Amino acid sequence: MPATIVIGAQWGDEGKGRVADWLAAEADVVARYAGGDNAGHTVVVGEKIFKLHLIPSGVLHEHVVCVLGNGMVVNPVNLLREMDQIASMGVEITPERFMISSRAHLITPAHVALDSASEKALGNQAIGTTLRGIGPAYMDKTGRKGIRAGQMLNIEEFADALYARIEEANVTLARQGGVNVDPKTVTTDYIEAAERLRPYIKDTTVYLNERLKQGARVLCEGAQGTLLDIDHGDYPFVTSSSPTSGGALTGLGIGPRYIDRVMGVTKCFSTRVGGGPMPTELQGELGNRLRGTGENHWDEFGTTTGRPRRCGWLDAVVLRYAAAVNGFTDLFLTKLDVLSGFDELKIAVAYHIGAKRYEFPPVTLSELEHVEVEYITLPGWHEDITKIKDVGNLPEATCAYVQKIAELCDTPVTAISVGPERDQLIFF
Ligand code: GDP
Ligand code: IMO
Ligand code: MG
Repeated sequence: MPATIVIGAQWGDEGKGRVADWLAAEADVVARYAGGDNAGHTVVVGEKIFKLHLIPSGVLHEHVVCVLGNGMVVNPVNLLREMDQIASMGVEITPERFMISSRAHLITPAHVALDSASEKALGNQAIGTTLRGIGPAYMDKTGRKGIRAGQMLNIEEFADALYARIEEANVTLARQGGVNVDPKTVTTDYIEAAERLRPYIKDTTVYLNERLKQGARVLCEGAQGTLLDIDHGDYPFVTSSSPTSGGALTGLGIGPRYIDRVMGVTKCFSTRVGGGPMPTELQGELGNRLRGTGENHWDEFGTTTGRPRRCGWLDAVVLRYAAAVNGFTDLFLTKLDVLSGFDELKIAVAYHIGAKRYEFPPVTLSELEHVEVEYITLPGWHEDITKIKDVGNLPEATCAYVQKIAELCDTPVTAISVGPERDQLIFF
């Protein structure tokens, strides 16, 4: 494995963190390439539950070097908080094993305020963002007025640029009825953060290419999911980055020749948090059953925002599309344990609008809102599968469900998980 990419095949929260933690055992470097602290990746190690937002899930393996790639947007204050938090859980981070691309863009409190103002202005059309300032930070990046992590190396210039950007953002905020941000406070806080983060800021493009040339194994940890991609997702109900496999290359500055595995991660049902189309969404008892009550830490409530996730049947139209967009070599299917106890399970296999049948999602929101879903029904299973270690011991109906998914998206399923812990994993 020169380089493997792990990607969410749905709308995020598929279990990428636990998959990246598993693959990191065999990796030398784990790199995030898109998004920022809108992500929330859960890794359960014994009694400890890590909820990582910016730091790659590989951090829990001491031998792994973690990288925040150039494609990311980084809130330095939140990053330091996360570093301190995981240090308090016994995971020490040093510049030898953690680096931030000097080309990554910074999120400021003005971006956070702009995110809020924009959501408020949209009213009931709001995207339902994580309110982490992601969209406005990427807007500054593509508008060519962003501030990059490398600028933190020259404190004086950094402070001037930051102060000017906050003042400029305040004009926009005033126009949008948002809350102004004090440039002095921000500059003071960010200078303090810059002093601490300075040793971690590197040209990670050069580093990654050198390591790959030497034969190091690099794991690219995706955030968000394919249907949240700025190009390929349910625009405008998307995030502002490219979580798909192409984004891993631009978001890290590496070439496609190094990639030999693109693993799609999907839950065995669907979830979505925030607005936007979700053709297989279930209201009422079935949806509540998939969501869970919140009693278990793996129940469907957002890792970053705590919001209840919308839940529904697995959608193979979405998975087929994700397999195409990303070029998945294989799939990892999570949360099979949650499906124990259903008499039957449905999978969406196509959409219909009038007489037209769609095997891939239609492009426009108005079409997506009007699709009728064609389902197949498979037998469920009632056994507790959380302690099973071997595929031969799984109920027949579980195996049939997994094989059907592989068939529907023409991609092999190579592993499944039957609980959130590291060893609750079965190879197929
Ligand atoms: P990510 O954003 O893709 O890394 O996923 P999240 O961490 O946001 O959400 C996945 C949730 O499912 C977390 O609470 C995980 O601990 C949990 N999880 C992952 N795999 C399994 C599984 O096989 N079974 C159960 N019950 N929970 C799982
Ligand atoms: P992980 O990496 C689930 C969703 C938000 C919203 C839309 C835009 O944990 O899978 P943003 O704050 O990015 O501008 O919000 O994208 N979203 C996620 N949903 N998991 C995530 O990350 C998400 N990151 C963003 O809910 O609908
Ligand atoms: Mg998540």
